[in-house]
Amino acid sequence: MTEQPRPQDVVRDPAPAAIFLVLTVRPGAEDVVGDLLADVASLKRGVGFKRTEDELSCVVGIGAQLWDRMYDAPRPAGLHPFRPVVGATHTAVATPGDLLFHLRARQLDLCFELAKQLVGRLSGSADVVDEVHGFRFLDERDMLGFVDGTENPTGADAFAAVQVGDEDPAHTGASYVMVQKYLHDLDSWEALSVEEQERAIGRHKLSDIEIADDDKASNSHVALNTITDADGNDLDILRDNLPFGEVGTQTFGTYYIGYAADPAVLEEMLTNMFIGKPPGNHDRILDFSTAVTGNLFFVPTQDFLEDPSMINETSTINDQATTSEPTVRDGSLNIGSLKRSTTA
Ligand code: HEM
Repeated sequence: MTEQPRPQDVVRDPAPAAIFLVLTVRPGAEDVVGDLLADVASLKRGVGFKRTEDELSCVVGIGAQLWDRMYDAPRPAGLHPFRPVVGATHTAVATPGDLLFHLRARQLDLCFELAKQLVGRLSGSADVVDEVHGFRFLDERDMLGFVDGTENPTGADAFAAVQVGDEDPAHTGASYVMVQKYLHDLDSWEALSVEEQERAIGRHKLSDIEIADDDKASNSHVALNTITDADGNDLDILRDNLPFGEVGTQTFGTYYIGYAADPAVLEEMLTNMFIGKPPGNHDRILDFSTAVTGNLFFVPTQDFLEDPSMINETSTINDQATTSEPTVRDGSLNIGSLKRSTTA
């Protein structure tokens, strides 16, 4: 039996601190990026080992266009550029981004040092187009004052929610991740009564208890993000949003990050929020929150990052299950290989 590829560190307890880095990769720099991605785990060990109790982690996401530039392998089944969602009142915009680094730890300094190492290695090869430093706010609250993350799946349910399974055998254990940076109009939000805010979210503010279904507003955030499959089973994602801000400029935001095994689940939630369900019944929190970025990335397994040709080995081993012949590597079939620049 072949071993399952090791996933990246997607499933974790809510992070007290995070840096979200989105980069674009310059033409011709694909090899530099490929070499760095193979070294991310080693860099993380170098920075994090001195304080393992602070649980530094780094998840790498790869955008659709960069995938096509870097790998011979066909795109993973669900990978495509972020699709903007244009509602009658609010829009989920798509913004540039080839690479995501989601750095998490108990203390921000570890994220910062690793971010510095990663970006240093990409100097002249990639450009940071968005950088957000997120922090735990009070008792796990977002900038709107509500506890965020309560209904995340845990344990085996969390792995099931985020890991690609047999539907895409070349990428078993991988994930998809969607990110959006939201800016809040806190003056308007805070002008609402607590009861109006609770109607917008669908939970009570102080206690974090969910409002009963019969009393919950259909345009509340929780109602629109509770979705099921055709058999009525809940469709879950794993979120690790964090607030960010700057008092001098009165910037108050939420960095939304959602992991899933199938990006269609993330996209259905986004459609419910922005188009509304039924259409026109959009998410009330959008009247106080503007999405200023939007990206979708594929999160390959750790094994793939270290050796993209493993896809070829996995698929060939599966294809040749009855023979002990060694895998034949041929350029045209080596579907996982890194596309090497021919200009070198
Ligand atoms: C301004 C940005 C956002 C804020 C401040 C926010 C905040 C919250 C809060 C306070 C909750 C209730 C507690 C909890 O279960 O975590 C929640 C639930 C949830 N949010 Fe968000 N959220 C944001 C954006 C998004 C986006 C863009 C998505 C998906 C596309 C999303 C998906 C969900 C889901 C799936 C739940 C759990 C629903 C349930 O099963 O009860 N959120 N969010």
